[in-house]
Amino acid sequence: MVSDFPSKNFFNITGIMMNKRFYIETYGCQMNFADSEVVNSILLDGGMLPVQSAEEADVIFVNTCSIRENAETRVWNRLKEFRSLKKEKKQLTVGVLGCMAERIKDQIIDQEQLVDIVVGPDAYRDIPNLLAEVEDGRKAVNVLLSLEETYADISPVRTSGNGVTAFVSIMRGCDNMCAFCVVPFTRGRERSRPLESILREIRELSDQGYREVTLLGQNVNSYKYEEIDFTHLMDKASKVDPEMRFRFSSPHPKDFPEPLLHLIAERPNLCNYIHIPAQAGSSSMLERMRRPYTREQYLTLIDRIREIIPGVSLSTDIIAGFCDETEEEHRDTMTLMEIVEYDLAYMFAYSERERTLAHRKYEDNVPESVKKSRLTEIIQQQMVIQEKNNRKEIGQRHLVLVEGTSKKSDEQLSGRTDTNKVVVFDKLDFKKGDFVEVEIVDCTSATLIAKPISKRTIAEYYSEAVFA
Ligand code: 5AD
Ligand code: SF4
Repeated sequence: MVSDFPSKNFFNITGIMMNKRFYIETYGCQMNFADSEVVNSILLDGGMLPVQSAEEADVIFVNTCSIRENAETRVWNRLKEFRSLKKEKKQLTVGVLGCMAERIKDQIIDQEQLVDIVVGPDAYRDIPNLLAEVEDGRKAVNVLLSLEETYADISPVRTSGNGVTAFVSIMRGCDNMCAFCVVPFTRGRERSRPLESILREIRELSDQGYREVTLLGQNVNSYKYEEIDFTHLMDKASKVDPEMRFRFSSPHPKDFPEPLLHLIAERPNLCNYIHIPAQAGSSSMLERMRRPYTREQYLTLIDRIREIIPGVSLSTDIIAGFCDETEEEHRDTMTLMEIVEYDLAYMFAYSERERTLAHRKYEDNVPESVKKSRLTEIIQQQMVIQEKNNRKEIGQRHLVLVEGTSKKSDEQLSGRTDTNKVVVFDKLDFKKGDFVEVEIVDCTSATLIAKPISKRTIAEYYSEAVFA
């Protein structure tokens, strides 16, 4: 059943939520983590209290991901663990949020004792009503997708995280329909969040001491709000606080705006780092994937990016073993990655998803063992490239934003360069939130090791650059 608004319990809702303890566990992409912060805000507004573990909670929400089968398997296993908790604690409510909610609502609801609430990515405002329905002894579902919802007026509440770096969602949904991807079906049509609400959130983050913001969308270069396009948005965002750094994720190679490259090159607080998902290295595969660019066009874009932003760092997403992939197409992916020499890559074996074009039209016919061995080859090559790239950093200076203490030692701090590389160095008098100039002295394939020099501001460090 889909809940109507207002629910007949409307006037009881606040009472139902008041002082109930909630716990949100988040899986999947950065967008899901940003969404959990919106849900946090809605629950806190209703008088609920956040707790740090499932065991302490009266209401557990799992914010889920459907992008690959193993992401869903992890969630199912976790839900089964919560079922045992439910047996001990009769009043415990378990809710499924996010992409899986939309995909498998019937399966979830039919399983006795597993889940009480199912809420799709565009229905979070309805959670208070849905909680009221559960209180009435019913299971509650709202997985309606919207053409407008951007949660523009809700200020996300960041209860976890480092207090220094934050994600800000600038749009929702995706209209691209890449053949392998379930996102357009779970998150719906693309829509952009109003400019003013994005800038307001950035201002609030700046006031709270955050020093870095990553603007998020499935396809950020199609951001459009009234006359404002993505380059305009980056221009305005970066002017909110010149001592705050900005990144974005992810742009699509098909229509990357060149003016944005010039803006990144000249604006000190726009990071010299671009995540530019290739997915594959052969034009024939890209066509099957419904990625509207060729290998040559992609490589031309990479050359242009490097020409306009010298020293830029690049990362990518790659899928191994998509439908009908030949050995030659796999080689093309290997050589593309060799040519570009990415600083970072997210690499996956293809996982067939229902409803996608690939599911309807192609056969998932690359054997698992071949997918795995191709993926391993891709990963191994990437590790060698990363270590080689990192070796070139030795002796170079970088401005690092300190995100916290290093995982390995309390005496060391960990942060990132403008180019998104993780750096560790001795703590001395530096602290979380400082920008520190460092010199790189050593590395692994994943981390740079540095000697700290001094605390600096962005303006000081890039003093030769022009801030319009
Ligand atoms: N199988 C494997 N990887 C996928 N991705 C998206 N859909 C699938 C799938 N069905 C990857 C893409 C995308 C990233 C977020 O996840 O590389 O860019
Ligand atoms: Fe999926 Fe393609 Fe949209 Fe990314 S751009 S979310 S891969 S459909």
